[in-house]
Amino acid sequence: MEFRRITGLPPYVFATINGLKAQARSQGRDIVDFGFGNPDLPSPDIAVEKLAEAAHNPKNHRYSASRGLPNLRLAMATRYKKLFDVDLDPDTEVVTTIGAKEGLTHLMWVLLGPGDTAIVPSPSYPIHLAGPGFAGAQVITVPMVDPGASTNDPGDDFFAGLVAAWESATVKPRVIICSFPHNPTSACVDLAFMERLVNFALEREVIICHDFAYADLGFDGYQPPSILQAPRAKECCVELYTLTKSFSMAGWRVGFMVGNAEIVAALTKLKSYLDYGTFQPVQIAAIVAMNEASDYPDLLREVYQVRRDTLISGLNRIGWSVAAPKGSMFIWAPIPEPYREMDSLEFAKFLITEAEVATSPGVGFGEGGDGHVRFALIENELRTQQAIRNLKRALPKLN
Ligand SMILES: Cc1ncc(COP(=O)(O)O)c(C=O)c1O
Repeated sequence: MEFRRITGLPPYVFATINGLKAQARSQGRDIVDFGFGNPDLPSPDIAVEKLAEAAHNPKNHRYSASRGLPNLRLAMATRYKKLFDVDLDPDTEVVTTIGAKEGLTHLMWVLLGPGDTAIVPSPSYPIHLAGPGFAGAQVITVPMVDPGASTNDPGDDFFAGLVAAWESATVKPRVIICSFPHNPTSACVDLAFMERLVNFALEREVIICHDFAYADLGFDGYQPPSILQAPRAKECCVELYTLTKSFSMAGWRVGFMVGNAEIVAALTKLKSYLDYGTFQPVQIAAIVAMNEASDYPDLLREVYQVRRDTLISGLNRIGWSVAAPKGSMFIWAPIPEPYREMDSLEFAKFLITEAEVATSPGVGFGEGGDGHVRFALIENELRTQQAIRNLKRALPKLN
């Protein structure tokens, strides 16, 4: 059978790891699982209670507003003002999405078509690399991380990559997708970087789609900037925000796209054909989470920071040298030198079978990700310490 749009997709390498994990578990082995960035921490109680209450009201069982309830969009605008001092008109500059992933994918449908191109860093979260293809467009990759650099955070090299990609493109790109703090590399940027990116886009009339999934996960006092804080950003940028990581509400499917009003209107129109929005009790509970548990992300951040410290200090103690990221919920670990004959998929398989530790192979995030594995901070401290003991035993060539 022949299929459209999914035919060119690379094999989903995470499925290999999931298969090995399931196999090991079926043999009774205890796998410490840093594989999938699926938050283990509970959603705010107040949201759960509101969801239960709202679900009992039959009025909430009907189709909801595809663009999101007005008070939900208002809650989002209020949060942007509080966190970033960015003014958003909830009616024209905010649309609710069924998670950031849905928003980003359908955004590509309104921005791109066959013959168009989009610039995407490699490695990246898989839908960033695949989303333009679902709209029939081609992706041009730029390196996310400079191989020789001592930090994952992008700088001049990233911009040099952007300029080179732009200049060599025969069809000028219409879109740049980016995301900071970055999954999988944990790369973080400051407002000056965002300003430079916005200027790059304004000069070339290209649209920036910034996926801000880790907006609330900056450590040691670092606050990740919104791209909309950059002057004139609303002329060319949209940003995705989600309750998935910030409020540990992954399964609820509540996200937003905010920014340029014309693009917000375009996505709103497409979505009015495609969906009837997230289940209304979920939207109502999301309003309560954002308005009445607005500090919940601070508690989550503390937990992730402690986990980051436990994992980073443990890895370095056993001789696996990895730098502590300023944000995100990931550790992007280069394969240690004595094991570099393995590629990232082989190494991730080796870690499951020999150390009972599951990670994500870097190559799953694009070719630029090989040579690394990604740890998601979804195991508690005790389990993390257990993983470190297992790794020490399984990696005797470390010193
Ligand atoms: C960069 C990035 N964007 C989006 C998502 C998913 O967000 P949502 O659950 O809102 O679809 C993730 C989840 O891992 C992510 O890492």
